Amino acid sequence: MKAVRISGFGIAPVLDELPEPQPRAGRSLVRMAAATVGHIDRTVWSGAFFAHPPLPYIPGVEAAGTVVASDRHAPGQRVWLRGSGLGTTENGTWCELIDAPDEALGLLPDGLDMALGAAFFSPCTSAWVALHEIAGLRAGERVLVTGATGAVGSMTVQLARETGAVVFARAEEAAGQPVDLLVDTVGGPMLEAALPHVAPGGRAVLVGYTAGNLLPLNIAHFLQRDVALLPLNMFRRDAAGRAAVPSLLARLSDGRLKLEVKRFPLGEAASALEWITQRGHRGRAVLVP
Ligand SMILES: NC(=O)c1ccc[n+]([C@@H]2O[C@H](COP(=O)([O-])OP(=O)(O)OC[C@H]3O[C@@H](n4cnc5c(N)ncnc54)[C@H](OP(=O)(O)O)[C@@H]3O)[C@@H](O)[C@H]2O)c1
Repeated sequence: MKAVRISGFGIAPVLDELPEPQPRAGRSLVRMAAATVGHIDRTVWSGAFFAHPPLPYIPGVEAAGTVVASDRHAPGQRVWLRGSGLGTTENGTWCELIDAPDEALGLLPDGLDMALGAAFFSPCTSAWVALHEIAGLRAGERVLVTGATGAVGSMTVQLARETGAVVFARAEEAAGQPVDLLVDTVGGPMLEAALPHVAPGGRAVLVGYTAGNLLPLNIAHFLQRDVALLPLNMFRRDAAGRAAVPSLLARLSDGRLKLEVKRFPLGEAASALEWITQRGHRGRAVLVP
């Protein structure tokens, strides 16, 4: 089978020909239809993630496809894949035939585009957990979202509106009125500039740090303003994210939620890894066989 492999941290991925994996107890074989290229894959590739598969490895933490062999699912079943070490502690999804722990599989609704099935998990569950598990968003609250053009940001905007919140993608739009909740997906100076727009007693969920990973903290101001800084860690919140998947997939299937996806051939993983770092790109990247 064809598989993308990484031989060292930061070294460009290459397309290899590898032997097909064989069925094993506790594992499922899935014919890949689309495999996501996301920021987490870049972090693992850079060597900066807290874990990584043994080198050389097949990257990819998410995908969608059809079951070839599994003790849990019938052949032909459409599934999404994510978690249980896929692409972080063991080989991942950027290959024609994925060898995954049974626990990594979930069912995809009939008719849902496979590329969307590969790409939905991180932005949809992150936005949902940020708003509902961490922030406890209520109808009528005012919400500011930074990075609202991004995958997580745009999904946060959609889900917050669905809950009846009043949502702003830029602080200036809030017309001088403070917000109850900030969801920051950008970090660095963007987060620093957005925080003063949160009302005293409000909360800020910290999701990403593309623009910088440091935040100066004046402790006196922090105590006086009493804004709760709440981290999102989707690896720790995996169970809450997975629990939300069926209803998120239902809303993606009927178009109530929208997420853009850009396809790259499997052999162009390096281009996809580069594309997701470009300012102004829209949606998520997936590799297709
Ligand atoms: N904590 C967690 O568990 C968790 C879960 C999921 C994702 N994340 C992280 O969340 C972040 C966002 O993910 P994503 O999939 O939404 O990424 P994305 O689709 O690439 O979107 C990035 C967003 O950030 C904006 N941006 C990037 N650099 C910026 C800068 N220097 N100044 C201002 N805005 C900037 C982009 O604006 P433009 O459109 O103008 O370029 C875009 O709106 C990533 O860092 C990701 O690793 C964390």
